[in-house]
Parts: sequence; structure tokens; C-alpha cells
Amino acid sequence: MDNYLQQKRILVGITGGIAAYKTIELIRLLRKQDAEVRVVLTEAAAHFVSPLTLQAISGNAVSQSLFDPQAELAMGHIELAKWADALIIAPATADFLARLNLGLASDLLTTLCLATKAPIFIAPAMNQQMYAQSVVQQHLASLRQRGINIIGPNSGEQACGDVGAGRMSEPAEIFAALSASFVTAKPLLGLKVAITAGPTQEAIDPVRYISNYSSGKMGYAIAEAFAKQGAIVTLISGPVNLTPPQDVNVIKVTTAQQMWEQSMSAAVTHQIFIGCAAVADYRVADIAPQKIKKSGDEITLKLVKNPDIIADVGHLTAQRPFTVGFAAETQDVENYAKDKLVRKRLDLICANDVSIAGQGFSSDHNALQLFWADGNVSLPLTDKQHLAEQLVNLIINLYQKTNHNDEKN
Ligand code: PMT
Repeated sequence: MDNYLQQKRILVGITGGIAAYKTIELIRLLRKQDAEVRVVLTEAAAHFVSPLTLQAISGNAVSQSLFDPQAELAMGHIELAKWADALIIAPATADFLARLNLGLASDLLTTLCLATKAPIFIAPAMNQQMYAQSVVQQHLASLRQRGINIIGPNSGEQACGDVGAGRMSEPAEIFAALSASFVTAKPLLGLKVAITAGPTQEAIDPVRYISNYSSGKMGYAIAEAFAKQGAIVTLISGPVNLTPPQDVNVIKVTTAQQMWEQSMSAAVTHQIFIGCAAVADYRVADIAPQKIKKSGDEITLKLVKNPDIIADVGHLTAQRPFTVGFAAETQDVENYAKDKLVRKRLDLICANDVSIAGQGFSSDHNALQLFWADGNVSLPLTDKQHLAEQLVNLIINLYQKTNHNDEKN
């Protein structure tokens, strides 16, 4: 395995959470790769892990205060901020996230975060109820927008006995994310990925249409995440109000029929096809050539079925791409999703429960349950950019295990 961390200078910040004990293992992993590690503890963190242990494991004195003349003599806080190639704060508590987001410099760690030019990584850890609070999510979204890398959190049983999202990512996961950040090569260079996004609009007459609440945010975030890793991305987009991501080829469509045509030709030239669009299942049988005038108390529109794009891609017999569908459900999410996985002949389905407020259609956030032939995983509620990054990693993992490594031009 390539060692991207050798001689990299990693500043590990620890804030006051029960997960702090896991950070000892993270430091051990970093040191094993010959990374240089310096540790900064907040006042609260010192209640959970001892500076002496951290000093022994990191091989360097631990810094705890802005106002420690001894520590400043060894390496002043500005020097420390300049020294680091990367900062990782693990665990990052709700309090720390809030202070970081506000740009406070109320202790050594927040001051370092303001004073450094190095990339900052944070691994949040807190009770699931705290993590679900909209104010915490807002801080995370705003930090992410400022370019701060957020790792996790995971879902599961918590130290307090609760179950849910908020567990700090495992040291090996944090280590992998840090290591990957030093890889300069784009791992998906040349891989061709087609993605549908947004709604379709099905005309009723020249001034009215049938559509849905899809904003395109989820599909655009997936396109961006693939493009960042070097993939060649074609985004087949219904009408949305979004700026296309950089380095993505956008094909604009309006109706399901147009989306089907573009998708079928992209499917055979791309290695991965992802159907994230909310395609109208039906269209109006006879579009009125003129505006329909108000008349009578009722009006009947005859609807006919649209083609099922993702099912047609999934059932291709030649040049079939690795096919990923979405399922937007309001009930019985798992069963409906698994049914679509089989019926539409997909390699992976990403199910979202769109009945829950604050996620799914139009929201900046989402949570997904992923199902494939012999596995499943849940990606907890987070902003769509972060969710897309996690999803892309999983898709690539599954794709590499299949025989889809065919050449496509
Ligand atoms: O766009 P956002 O506001 O960010 O919201 C994201 C989202 C909720 C739209 C997205 O996460 C999502 O769930 N997309 C799929 C929505 C949907 O139409 O789900 P479905 O369960 O009705 O369809 C299942 C699958 O079949 C989907 O992959 C869909 O793209 C595809 N389909 C459906 C009908 C059709 N005629 N052709 C299709 O290809």
C-alpha cells in the first residue's frame, strides 16, 4: 500500500468527548506511517484523555493552552499553525463545531484553525439527538461550504445508550480520509459516468405542466463528487435552478421522453449510469395546442405511461453500464426499494424516505439506505454534498468488484 502520510505533519486536535480515547489509535496509525504528529487538547478533552499518554504516543509535547509560556517557547501557536500539513480534530464536539463556525479564537485549537492555511478535517461526535438538531446541521453545512472536510459521523449504539447518527468515525476511517487527501492523482480519471437529475416537466398546454418537487441538488452533488475524482461526467438534467458543477457536461432536457432518449444513448457509452431524476411516470396523452380555458367544475386529463428510463438501462443486453437507481418512498421503504432493485435490474438502489421533513425533495440534506444483491448500508442524514461523496465511494467499490471494467469510448 502506498504511504501518502510519510513525513507529513499532522496536527491532531482533541475536544471533550467520550470518543477521545479512540484518537489514541488514530495517532498510533499516523505514527506507524511515519507521519509527524503534534497534539492539541482543549480543556474539556483533558478530562477524557491524559496529556501524558498522548505525549508518549505522539512522541511530542502536547499543547493545551494559548497562554502557556513553556509551550509557546517550544513552538508558538502561529508557528504550530504554519507547521501543519493538515489539521484533524477528532472528536469534534457540538460546542467546538459552533465555535469553529463562528470563527472564534477562544482557545488554542480554534485559534490554530483560524491561523492555519492547511486543510482542516473534523470528525464530529455527539449524542444522536444533538447531532440531529438543525443548528448543528447548519454549522456543519456552513463549515463544509468553507472547505472544511467532515468525516462521518457513523450511526449505531452510543456511549450514552442511545442509537443513531453521531458516533465518531473509526480511527481507520479517519486515517483513510486523511491519507486520501494527500493523494494528488485523480483515482477515477477517465471513468465515464452518466447521471440523471432533477424533475421532468410534462406539458398540459402551452402554459401548464405536471412535475414534482425535485430540485436537482442530489443529482448535481453526485455529479460534482464524481468529477472531483477525475471521472468524465455527463449530467442529464431536467429543469432546475442550479449552477452546473465544474468540469461536468450538462445535457438539458424537459420531458421524460427527452430524458429517456439522452439516457439511452449515454448508457451505452458510459461505464456507470445513475438515475437520480424524479421522472414523471405519466404524461398527458394529448397536449392542448392552446391554453385550456376554464369551463365547468371538473376537467379530466388522460395520462399515458412514460418510459421507465432506469429499467430500460438496467435491462440492456449489450454495453450495459453499472446501473444505480434511486427510490423515493413515503412508506415501507426497504421493501419497495428491494422490489425496484430486482424489477428494474439494478446493481444498486439508493432509497430515501421522502416523508421525513428536512430531507429528500428540495432539501439541502438527505439520508439514504442502500441495497444491492448481497449487502446494504445506511448513510445517515447529512448535507447532499457529503452524502454524494460517501455514495460515490461505495459505488466505485461495488463497481470495481463487478465485471464492468469494459472499455467505452
Ligand atoms: O432533486 P432533489 O430535490 O435533490 O431530491 C432528490 C430526490 C429525492 C429526487 C432523489 O434523491 C430521488 O429519490 N430520486 C428518485 C426519485 C424517483 O422518481 O423515485 P421513484 O421511486 O419514483 O423511481 C425509482 C427509480 O426509477 C429512480 O431511479 C428514477 O429515476 C427511475 N425512474 C422512474 C420513473 C421513470 N419513468 N423513469 C425512471 O428512470
